[in-house]
Amino acid sequence: MKERTTVVVGVTGGIAAYKTCELVRALVKRGRRVKVVMTGAATRFVTPLTFRTLTNEPVAVSLWDDSPGDPVHHVSLAEEADVMVIAPCTANVIAKLAHGRADDLLTTTALATEAPLIIAPAMNMHMWRKDITQANIAALRARGAVIVDPTSGDLACGDVGEGRLAPVEAILDAVLAEASRARDLEGRSVLVTAGGTQEPVDPVRYLGNRSSGKTGFAIAAEAARRGARVTLVTAPTHLADPFGVEVVRVHTALQMRAAVLARAGDADAIVMSAAVADFRPARPEAGKIKKGANAPDAILLEPTPDILAELGAREGARPVLVGFAAETSDVERHAREKLASKRVDLIVANDVSDPSLGFGTADNRVLFVSAEGTEELPVMPKQAIARALLDRVRELLG
Ligand code: C5P
Repeated sequence: MKERTTVVVGVTGGIAAYKTCELVRALVKRGRRVKVVMTGAATRFVTPLTFRTLTNEPVAVSLWDDSPGDPVHHVSLAEEADVMVIAPCTANVIAKLAHGRADDLLTTTALATEAPLIIAPAMNMHMWRKDITQANIAALRARGAVIVDPTSGDLACGDVGEGRLAPVEAILDAVLAEASRARDLEGRSVLVTAGGTQEPVDPVRYLGNRSSGKTGFAIAAEAARRGARVTLVTAPTHLADPFGVEVVRVHTALQMRAAVLARAGDADAIVMSAAVADFRPARPEAGKIKKGANAPDAILLEPTPDILAELGAREGARPVLVGFAAETSDVERHAREKLASKRVDLIVANDVSDPSLGFGTADNRVLFVSAEGTEELPVMPKQAIARALLDRVRELLG
């Protein structure tokens, strides 16, 4: 372990750059080594001298100005970083990062670093709301970047709306949280399942469910970012492969069972966030069922094997097991029953009767139910739930 965490702070050209002085000061005050890298445009708002004075470190701007006393270049900055934060981050730099462009020192450092990347956007509300900006943000999120969302209020351009840099404390919290959990799952192997299985009725129809896979994908991405070797076994979803994760795509509960059991022996932890069908058509038709007189008036169902219970029933050394419970009533009681009957270490339970939370939404409210008790989390983004869950998994791993 290094003695001090190094935070690379990227500053881009927005009026909110003056608030980054406060962020830098707060990080230095907390004992972090802070290295600032600025875009050319950022230096129009705050001078490098300001940051140099606050950090007592050279401030880097250009790929080309390796002045003798200040030996900084993108690779050394990228390697030194335990965490990189870009605040404020303009729409332009967000677009560049989303597409892997690296045409100045800041974007080159961001592309070269393996450290967690935190982005605090700040811009005019129309720019923030544009589909292309939101798509770029979503792409960065999918690759594991932490986005500290801008807030609403008076904007420098005179508009009132969303686009103001998040409060310095919120950015600081995100940086400190990343710094403390950076690579704490190094050397661990984590198996995650996601999505809702599809059980064929005939070659064109299936029985499915409303799971979007978002939570499982967020867990896989977060575990990979924290250094784990991650395999994600997923039923069909519309989500892109998370960065640095081995993805195995399946359709049915039986395929998921085979994929999970084949890999369970290597896993230190298994997180079953998939919505696995409990029943499947017992005799799927070989040809498409036609409407009309011969159409069946019932589909005979049979239970699927319970993958998690099968893992829980194994004797001897076994991985940490996490199950999910989607309930419509008595959430905690049902979750606790599941904890016992499936013999798992933790159940993540949520109430799916509220249509604004859960299936397909970005946020959720969950309970962590374990032998030690129940922890009730507030409504939070699925990414944040993934983080909190992996904090628990890391504790369970010992
Ligand atoms: O019993 P129930 O389906 O509510 O349990 C949900 C939990 O069990 C989830 O973690 C899910 O991934 C897992 N499960 C499973 N195999 C099944 C059904 C559910 O592993 N056939």
